[in-house]
Amino acid sequence: MQYALPMQTHAPGHTARRLAPFGTTIFAQMSALAAQHHAVNLSQGFPDDPGPAAAHEAAARAMQAGHNQYAPLPGTPQLRRAIADWSASRSRISPDPDTGITVTAGATEALAAATLGLVNPGDEVVLFEPFYDSYRACVAFAGATPRFVQLRPDESGTRFTFDEPELRAAFTDKTRLVLINTPHNPTGAVLSKAELQTIADLCLQHDAIALADEVYETLTYDESQPHISIATLPGMADRTVTVSSIGKSFSLTGWKIGWAIAPSHLTAAVRAAHQFLTFAVATPLQHAAAELLTKHHAIAESIRAHDHAMRDLLVPALTDLGFKCFNPAGTYFVMADHTEVSAGLALSPETTPDAALCRHLTEHARVAAIPPSAFYSTPSDGGRFIRFAFCKQQPTIEQAIANLRETLG
Ligand SMILES: Cc1ncc(COP(=O)(O)O)c(C=O)c1O
Repeated sequence: MQYALPMQTHAPGHTARRLAPFGTTIFAQMSALAAQHHAVNLSQGFPDDPGPAAAHEAAARAMQAGHNQYAPLPGTPQLRRAIADWSASRSRISPDPDTGITVTAGATEALAAATLGLVNPGDEVVLFEPFYDSYRACVAFAGATPRFVQLRPDESGTRFTFDEPELRAAFTDKTRLVLINTPHNPTGAVLSKAELQTIADLCLQHDAIALADEVYETLTYDESQPHISIATLPGMADRTVTVSSIGKSFSLTGWKIGWAIAPSHLTAAVRAAHQFLTFAVATPLQHAAAELLTKHHAIAESIRAHDHAMRDLLVPALTDLGFKCFNPAGTYFVMADHTEVSAGLALSPETTPDAALCRHLTEHARVAAIPPSAFYSTPSDGGRFIRFAFCKQQPTIEQAIANLRETLG
């Protein structure tokens, strides 16, 4: 990635060529800068709570019961059954637990395993930008070529969407995969049925596979914009890999328990890669995750309600300070246009404007956010935006607002 904060730390002399362009992820960079300046960290998207007590108890019980050796390659039968039931009730996808579910080290590994398992060198992969940063690396690992389609504010200026002709032009006879993320990080957009249908039609037309990253499936805030899985559209169940995890839904990002759901012919490809990436993931945590997905849907709902309340606390405060916010219908991120705020500040001209503002806010307001230029193939395209995470406890959000008011207000 051409984008660089000044403290970027990769060593080009030693890093393999296929990895060298990616440097140190922006999340690690901003979290390090936040720690250095004792800033409130609204950059990396992880909750600042200890996670649900029921999860701790279930994991401890599983360890004490002796579930401490390798799990089966596809995941424990209990967890695969629980994922099948959870998906059927949440997303109306009904996978076969034996041939249609693979438990992975978070959604991150599921995305890598699906890409490595399904994509050949020379294939093309359609990516929407701004993108979650691991997508580009997955495409590079597979030796494929990314084709970017940009999400931009729509005519009403309230949500991000894509331009249909631009998407159509990105599909070619080499397209193998399109990577879809809904609800979308970082824009907070939840793709509508019509938008998903447009993507699905192109997949069918070009015989392409959809890789759907749905890690924020439970975090939606607007009944008129529900989460829809592309796998449920006509003809798509057979050509979709749906990825999710318990990280966001159950406030357990550190557990790294995720999964890929797909028909058996695609699952075989995912497992072909998964067996050599990790083989299997933490057995006691799989037992505990099965319990959460089966018995503790109320926990996921209370996390959603909390994040909804934090969105409604942070977004109006940012708007008052001059940020033009795109009120998120999903995820726990808010994307804001900072043009007006930055105009009044003396920012370093050395980097993209968003990186300069993020550094300024971390050092002077002691609030860290993410510069989204890191999520664009041409970083300057993201220069006018900034992303804040609101998956934090209320005092954390209040402290961030107070700090920002002191410096910007
Ligand atoms: C869009 C998206 N996909 C995947 C992940 C990674 O999920 P996991 O922690 O389950 O690997 C994240 C984490 O921030 C994300 O935002």
